[in-house]
Amino acid sequence: MLELQNISFGVTEDNGGGSVNKEILNDISLTVGDNRFVVITGPNGGGKSTLAKIIAGIEKPTSGRILLDGKDITDLNVTERAKAGISFAFQQPVRFKGIQVLDLIRLAAGKKMTVADACQYLAEVGLCAKDYINREVNASLSGGELKRIEIATVLARSTRLSVFDEPEAGIDLWSFQNLIQVFEKMRAQIHDSSIMIISHQERILEIADEIVVLRDGRIDASGPREEILPALIGTPSAVEACKILKSK
Ligand SMILES: Nc1ncnc2c1ncn2[C@@H]1O[C@H](COP(=O)(O)OP(=O)(O)O)[C@@H](O)[C@H]1O
Ligand SMILES: [Mg+2]
Repeated sequence: MLELQNISFGVTEDNGGGSVNKEILNDISLTVGDNRFVVITGPNGGGKSTLAKIIAGIEKPTSGRILLDGKDITDLNVTERAKAGISFAFQQPVRFKGIQVLDLIRLAAGKKMTVADACQYLAEVGLCAKDYINREVNASLSGGELKRIEIATVLARSTRLSVFDEPEAGIDLWSFQNLIQVFEKMRAQIHDSSIMIISHQERILEIADEIVVLRDGRIDASGPREEILPALIGTPSAVEACKILKSK
């Protein structure tokens, strides 16, 4: 379904004495098949969020091509890519002053939707729908609530490819267990679609079909979970792996 061909991304930075090129992603090639649950992991600063933004069309690669179902989408902007079937949940979700949660879910679904249907998506991410459906998507929502609402909008969109950037980040008020259940359910219900999650969480890595390790803008390792997870650290514990990855 998704094919990344030799994706590189660089920025030009001013270091005071002149501009220097900084390589953030270097020659990333990756194929995500149909009905796959792919987890991208690796040390902070490795380029994971940048890669997600390139897939969603928020950033443009310096070189390389992106194909969705065989169609070249490299030159499509973020709106066109959303239409083509890619949805994206930010590591830091955006707040929309003046817009209610209900509007946001309906907007995401892109079709007529009853309040009851919209509530269903909130319930799926562990929010009591009646408390939230008419809330404004503004600063009064905690980071964890906002994150869950954003996950609900991605569910409502039900596109070919859903990309989640560190869904576990900032879920302080929400039991981590619920988040895992949301993703386990998503995985069980995969149908004509695929899910890509950027995560450091052992429980998420453990339900991956495939794991990709990004380090310093390059693919350090990628393959089926059974191969990558133990090899990542030489022990079966992903918790240790993530500690090691984060400390690097
Ligand atoms: N637009 C940008 N300009 C300059 N540096 C950037 C830009 N986007 C990302 N970076 C840098 O690229 C590296 C990778 O960032 P990021 O993709 O956020 O990593 P990760 O999500 O794996 O932690 C970091 O060093 C970050 O500071
Ligand atoms: Mg990131």
